[in-house]
Amino acid sequence: MNLDEQAREILRRNDKGGYTVPTHGLYPYQWNWDSAFAAWGFATFDLPRAWDELDTLMSSQWDDGMVPHIIFHKSDPGYFPGPEVWDTGQTPPSSGISQPPVAAIMARQIWATDRDAGTERIKALYPKLVGWHRWWHDYRCTFGPAAITHPWESGRDNCPDWDIGMADVDGSGVGEYTRRDTGHVNPEMRPGKADYDRYIAMLQYGRSTGWDQAKIVAGGPFLMADPGITFMLLRAHEDLSAIGRELGQDVSEIDSWATELRSALPLIWNDALGAYDARNLRNDAFAGVLGSGAFLAYLAGAGNPKLDAQLMRAWDAVNYGIPSADPESEIFDPRRYWRGPTWPVVNSLIALGLTENGRSELAERLRSETADLIRKHGFYEYFDPVDATPCGGADFTWTAAIWLTWAGNETENAQQKGAA
Ligand code: GLC
Repeated sequence: MNLDEQAREILRRNDKGGYTVPTHGLYPYQWNWDSAFAAWGFATFDLPRAWDELDTLMSSQWDDGMVPHIIFHKSDPGYFPGPEVWDTGQTPPSSGISQPPVAAIMARQIWATDRDAGTERIKALYPKLVGWHRWWHDYRCTFGPAAITHPWESGRDNCPDWDIGMADVDGSGVGEYTRRDTGHVNPEMRPGKADYDRYIAMLQYGRSTGWDQAKIVAGGPFLMADPGITFMLLRAHEDLSAIGRELGQDVSEIDSWATELRSALPLIWNDALGAYDARNLRNDAFAGVLGSGAFLAYLAGAGNPKLDAQLMRAWDAVNYGIPSADPESEIFDPRRYWRGPTWPVVNSLIALGLTENGRSELAERLRSETADLIRKHGFYEYFDPVDATPCGGADFTWTAAIWLTWAGNETENAQQKGAA
């Protein structure tokens, strides 16, 4: 089987009927942003299935507009913390936080592959996407940039960006629990016990409020501005606005969210670091950490010469893809979850931005380095950017998806087939 066929096979195998699991074993449910990438991948060979994936994702939307980070369609004892731990009282059962809002970005890409076939589908999704973006604006952007109430909300779960916020979380009273992740993959690649206790403490706080998002933002143990989500949301607002305009809708509200968010970008620019940086919203302190969240700026057309210099420095210090943390800093750990490795899926978003910002040579370099990793070792969750060691879960949905839409595309970039 060639790699295209293998990638399609992975998507089909991880398809649980209307939704796709990120990988069997480690992640047995529907994850929010994974699903949006899965849809993008399906769009290369089964367009109706691509729209179904987004429909299933958006059908988990809460009344307040939030689309949760995990949807527990069928209970699976192999995962912790499961539905009974989150205890959100939702149908379908779900977690109580969100995840990077990339669905509108992907919906626009998918629609562009066949306008006629997609118009009815996107029309049905549009109001739900608007509701979710409004939720981000109302509940997470009250300080300006997009905030997260739990590191898992960022999608870059335990990157060093969150260390200063995590330090203030007391994980000592969480009680006994059994982790499942370390039974599926090498514990060396996963977060340590002290961090896990804090993740659970934040979850327990949310549960104690009955998942009242305003209360969690006002008084929860963790609240940080996330450059990664800020840029993905900004880009998604702009894509959603473009979709709305094409559907003949009044998009002024969406445009106002985008304008507000763009004007908040100076708040996450750390001049001392020479880059966008995460910020603890409880005391305004910067994380002082360069990570892949900053480079998502290109996706929102928010690059600048200082950031360019940081990108080249960090990228040239490794061999494969953009590292999730600065390879020249002490915290760099090339195989530990989000603390150094490269994620093909993040590379695909950065490349999309680079191409649109007229940096096609850089985008091509990123594509070819990412493709090398997949060619050498297969569709892993993430990779060591120094020596290409495959890490985390195998046969990963979103790695297969971005192979089909972007990384495996030798001659022409997926972006050129993308949104007009
Ligand atoms: C990990 C990642 C997160 C992803 C999930 C499923 O938790 O950090 O971004 O959505 O796995 O792949």
